Amino acid sequence: MEKELEKTTNQETEETTATEEQGEYAGFDDLAEKEKAEQLKQEQAEKDKALPPDPEAILEVRHLKKHFVLKKTLMGKPLSTLKAVDDVSFKIMPGETLGIVGESGCGKTTMGRAILKLHQPTAGQVFFKGVDIAGYTPKQMRALRTDMQIVFQDPYSSLPPRSTVGDILAEPVRVHNIVPPSEVKDYVLKIMEQCGLRDYYYERYPHEFSGGQRQRICIARALAVNPTFVVCDEPVSALDVSIQAQIINLLKKIQEERKLTYLFISHDLSVVKYISDKIGVMYLGSMVEFGNTEKMFDNPLHPYTNALFSAVPNPNPDEKGNRILLKGDIPSPANPPMGCKFHTRCPKCMEICKHIEPEYREIEDGHFVACHCYNQEK
Ligand SMILES: Nc1ncnc2c1ncn2[C@@H]1O[C@H](COP(=O)(O)OP(=O)(O)O)[C@@H](O)[C@H]1O
Ligand code: SF4
Ligand SMILES: [Mg+2]
Repeated sequence: MEKELEKTTNQETEETTATEEQGEYAGFDDLAEKEKAEQLKQEQAEKDKALPPDPEAILEVRHLKKHFVLKKTLMGKPLSTLKAVDDVSFKIMPGETLGIVGESGCGKTTMGRAILKLHQPTAGQVFFKGVDIAGYTPKQMRALRTDMQIVFQDPYSSLPPRSTVGDILAEPVRVHNIVPPSEVKDYVLKIMEQCGLRDYYYERYPHEFSGGQRQRICIARALAVNPTFVVCDEPVSALDVSIQAQIINLLKKIQEERKLTYLFISHDLSVVKYISDKIGVMYLGSMVEFGNTEKMFDNPLHPYTNALFSAVPNPNPDEKGNRILLKGDIPSPANPPMGCKFHTRCPKCMEICKHIEPEYREIEDGHFVACHCYNQEK
C-alpha cells in the first residue's frame, strides 16, 4: 500500500513536470495545429499559382509534393500515405549546379524524378524554361525528353546488356532526329571522345567495362540528345573512390563546354561542396535550408545542416572541426514527428518545435531556412 502510494506520488510529480515543461503548449492540440498549417500552406500554394514564373530561372519548382499511398481501404480511400516530397520550392538559374543533400530516404531521388515527370507529382508547379510541365501528359513530355536528362546512380543496371556502346548511344540520336541518319556515327564518336571513351569502344558491350567507364557511357547517352538540364542522381556513389574525382571532373568540364544546368543529388557533402553553386538540404521530404554553397558552408544556419556539414573533413589542419553527432535514428517518413520534423534529433530543440512546424522563409537574399531559431522578421 505504501509502495502504491509512493508510485502515485511519483506519477503525479512526473505529470506536473511534464506539464510545467510544456508551458503554454500544455493541452495544445498538435493534430489540429498541423491541419491548420497544412491549410495555410495549401492557401499559399493557390495564391502563388497566380504569380508568373521567374523569367531568368531555367527551373522553378513551387510547392512540389509527391505522396505515395501505402495502404488503401476497400473503397480505395488512402489509409496511409508517405510524403516523400512535401511542399518543396526552389529555383535554378541557367548554367548553375544545385546540389541536393540529405540522408538516405529524405526524398532526393523522388524529387528529381518528379521534376522530370518520371513520377507524376501529387501537387505543385514545375516551370521548365517558363512553362509549367507538372500537368504535362507523357506525349507532351516526349518533346522535352531531349532537353531534360538524367544520369542514374547505378551504371551497372542502367545500360542494356545486349547492345553495343555504339547502339546504346546512337539509338536516342536516331529516335529524336538529333542529326541526319548519315551523320549519326560520327556524331556519336564525337560525344564519346568528349566523355573520354576510345572510338573502338563503339563495338564493345557494357559488361566489358569498369564502373567508371560505364558511368562515362551513361553520361554520353544523356548528352547525345543535347540536353540543357541534367539531373545527376548520386552519379558517383556506386563508383570506386579513386574514380569518383574523374567522373566529377568530366561532369564539370562538360557543363562548361555545353553550358548545362545540373540538379546534382548526393549524400556526399565533399562532392556537393566541390561541384555546386547552391545547396538545398532535405530532411524527411522537406527542404530545411537553401542557399549559396560558400555562404552555407561558412555559416550553416539550420541545426541539421550544421550537423551534416560538421562531418565534412576540413583540409586545414589548424582548424579543428567539431563533429556534431545526431542522436537517434532518422524517423520513418510514413510517420514523421509533429511540429518540426527534425525535433527528435535536434540539439537546439525548444518546446515550440515539438508542436508547431517552422515556416520555410527567406531570411536573407536567396538564403532560406525552416527553423524556429530564425523566426524574427527579415
Ligand atoms: N515508389 C515508391 N512507393 C512507396 N514509397 C516510395 C517509393 N519510392 C520511394 N519511396 C519512399 O520515399 C522516401 C524517399 O525515397 P527516395 O526519394 O528514394 O530518397 P533518397 O533518394 O533521398 O534516398 C523513402 O522513404 C522511400 O522508401
Ligand atoms: S525548429 Fe527547433 S527542432 Fe527544428 S531545427 Fe529549429 S531548433 Fe531544431
Ligand atoms: Mg536516392
